[in-house]
Amino acid sequence: MDTSKIAISEQYTIKNPLHSNKYLVNGVLKQWTGETSEVYSNICYTDGAPTLLGSVPDMDSDAANEAINSAVAAFDRGKGDWPTMKVKDRIACMMTFVEKMRPHRDQVVKLLMWEIGKTKNDACKEFDRTIDYILNTIEAYKKLDRKSARFDNQSGIFAHIRRSPLGVVLCLGPYNYPLNETFCLLIPALIMGNTTIFKPAKLGVLLITPLLEAFQESFPAGVVNIVFGRGRKIAAPIMQTGFVDVLALIGHSTSAVALQDEHPFKNRLRLILGLEANNPAIILPDADLDLVVRECISGTLSYNGQRCTALKVLFVHADIVEEFNKRYAEAVDALQYGLPWEDGVFLTPLPEKNKPAYIDGLIKDAVSKGAEVLNKRGGELSENYCYPAVLYPVSTDMRVYQEEQFGPVVPIIPFTNIDEPLDAIAASQYGQQVSLFGKDTKSLGPLIDIFANLVCRVNLNSACQRGPDIYPFTGRKNSAVGTLSVFDALRSFSIRCFVASKDNQYNNEILEKLLASEDSNFINTDYLL
Ligand code: G3H
Repeated sequence: MDTSKIAISEQYTIKNPLHSNKYLVNGVLKQWTGETSEVYSNICYTDGAPTLLGSVPDMDSDAANEAINSAVAAFDRGKGDWPTMKVKDRIACMMTFVEKMRPHRDQVVKLLMWEIGKTKNDACKEFDRTIDYILNTIEAYKKLDRKSARFDNQSGIFAHIRRSPLGVVLCLGPYNYPLNETFCLLIPALIMGNTTIFKPAKLGVLLITPLLEAFQESFPAGVVNIVFGRGRKIAAPIMQTGFVDVLALIGHSTSAVALQDEHPFKNRLRLILGLEANNPAIILPDADLDLVVRECISGTLSYNGQRCTALKVLFVHADIVEEFNKRYAEAVDALQYGLPWEDGVFLTPLPEKNKPAYIDGLIKDAVSKGAEVLNKRGGELSENYCYPAVLYPVSTDMRVYQEEQFGPVVPIIPFTNIDEPLDAIAASQYGQQVSLFGKDTKSLGPLIDIFANLVCRVNLNSACQRGPDIYPFTGRKNSAVGTLSVFDALRSFSIRCFVASKDNQYNNEILEKLLASEDSNFINTDYLL
């Protein structure tokens, strides 16, 4: 497990650290002259030391104010070029951005591997999925706009209804999908006419820097502002101004709550949040065990379990638990651990420095309270990894049950009565997704009906996941606020607004003139091809 002994082929070495001292405010790529933060990878070269990848600005509250002022000025109380622009012109800017983003694929993929330890395959997928997301968002916006290219007439009042932007959006993404999940917030926010401030996560930050120019060259000044640094130093002062209309954050609820608390006008602030999930799997006695093992491996351990949609706990029926445990533990030990760019690698170094010790602590706590580590390699510890431990039987007093591990350790809980997992899920603070494994419709049917009231996606005989991005991604309780999908995100970042006009000759002549002219971008019935 000591990856520092593995030679790194030429193509993947970090020859020159990327020292980026630029940030984007007011349409200008400014030079930062203050403090900087070094960015290290937890993947070590043969000297055993973490690898220096580069550095980024460590900005302060003055820079934060510069960014919020820029976004506020670009929205310009609704008068800005961007919020008043024709939909087709905003789409053209977005297309320009896509074309300018594409050439950076290799560099972004390499940084995804080094910065957050994502496998090459998954890093490529993250980039490509993001491009697809942007293109699909454009198509979805065209459809939405076509539906608005009309007038209603109810009770003698004409209405021309469209979706308008909300104002200034602060976007904060997570380290596990630093490109995709952040852009799934930023892109719909932008295309709907909002102006934005984007602060990359602490890990997965350098990979944003090659895209700064693309943002600058594609959008009008002040529409996209990109700042770097710690949340409490820059996101908090931005919220304190009271000018943020939408907080769009995928990450931990403690950050979301802390930032909301900073905003002086609570009802002004709209929230789009993707938070913790702690998704469970329920494995019924008639489930196809080969399929269950396959899906649970990918569900629990893809990207080392560091996904909000990962399966964090497995409830297995007592009749099959022994057989399941045997097969699953063997499958876990057969997973290939290595560097992200190696062929066939599945488990990779953890990007957070303290994570291996944290996971080790969860394992020790569970073992001290009666759980066993079922797999031979479970808990093997190195500087940057803790090999996935399969823990059985797990009980509610163990930390691994109470905390969302967000890493490579898998708790298994046996059950005899279905009410046991149902009670646990109902009592949980989270409600994103569930995986339900079984075949008999007499058992599955009623369970689906209950889960549909407890979570937002029931995955039948498959692992939990976000995609395809066209489907709604959300959660109940503390798991989310708002719904994201290509289509839903456009709605989440906008509000319905309409021009109402009494159906009389005086008004109708004005409307006809507005429609025949270019005098209003809002009032138009153009059909976007
Ligand atoms: O971290 C949460 C992500 O939304 C998970 O997405 O299910 O596509 O890996 P995914």
